[in-house]
Order: sequence, then structure tokens, then C-alpha cells
Amino acid sequence: MSFFNTSLFSEESAKDIIKKRKSLFSANYKTAKRVDILSKNLEYDKAKEFMKVVSKNYLDLLNLFPENTKEGHGTEALPSVWENKEEFDALMKKSSDDMIKLASVIEDSDDIRATLKQYMWKNCNACHSKFRKPH
Ligand code: HEC
Repeated sequence: MSFFNTSLFSEESAKDIIKKRKSLFSANYKTAKRVDILSKNLEYDKAKEFMKVVSKNYLDLLNLFPENTKEGHGTEALPSVWENKEEFDALMKKSSDDMIKLASVIEDSDDIRATLKQYMWKNCNACHSKFRKPH
């Protein structure tokens, strides 16, 4: 038996990749809640730092949906991710860009709640409704 058993190796890495993307989404959820609270408390400088963290995580997530991670290991990603990969990636990039836009408009916003919804929370639902299993 070869030391580099490729199937075993890719099984192992699929598990790691799924684990990694789940933990990044969970981290983004926590950070998004922080962004929400800080913005409502008018603590803009801190809020903007966390907006950039969420934005960067979205870009990292782009690389965490390879073909060999469609199922298993507790993934809640739907097959539609891989059937519409360009749309999925575009939505991920838009979500990342929107966090940078949010950082540039939040201070001048007349309606913080609506601005957070438009540039942050709406993107979560837009993606989950099509690409994540109902939970
Ligand atoms: C472009 C698509 C996309 C966007 C945008 C997106 N998500 Fe997700 N999210 C997913 C997918 C796909 C999964 C399932 C990942 C898996 O289980 O492999 C997921 C999973 C999650 C999970 C579960 C993680 C776990 O431990 O199983 C949480 C929490 C989450 N997302 C929160 C958010 C929040 C909050 C936002 C917005 C701030 C957001 N997501 C934006 C696609 C997205």
C-alpha cells in the first residue's frame, strides 16, 4: 500500500475544509452581531474594524467549496452551490464588497438599522435561502 493513499487524503481534507468553512460562518455570525451592536451604540471605529473582518472572511470562504466537499461531515450546503457556482461566488463577493461599503456609509446613515440590513443582514438571507439547507 502506498503511503500517499490519495482517496484517504482527500477524504481527510474534505472533512477539514467543511469544518473550516462552518467555523468561519459561525465566526462571521458572531462578528456581524458585534457590528450591529457597536453601530447602534455609535462606536463607529470599532464597528468598522469588525466589518473588515467579516469582509475578509467572505473572501476566504470563496476557496472553501471545492468539488469534493458537496456532502458528508455535517455540511448544510445544498447541491445548488456547485450547480450555480458562479452565482454563489458572485454573491459571496458581493457580500464581501457590501461590508466595505457599509464601513464607508455607516457614519452618515440616517437609519442605522436599515443600513445594517441593506449591506449586511440581507446578504445572509439571500444566500441561505438558495444555498443552505433549512435548519
Ligand atoms: C454567499 C453565501 C452565504 C452568505 C453571504 C452567508 N452565508 Fe452563512 N452559510 C452559507 C452556507 C452554504 C452554509 C453551510 C456551510 C456548511 O455547512 O458547509 C452557511 C452556514 C452558516 C452558519 C452555520 C455554521 C455551522 O457551524 O454549521 C451560520 C451560523 C451562518 N451561515 C451565518 C451567516 C451569517 C450571519 C451571514 C451574514 C452575515 C451569512 N451566514 C452569510 C452561505 C452563506
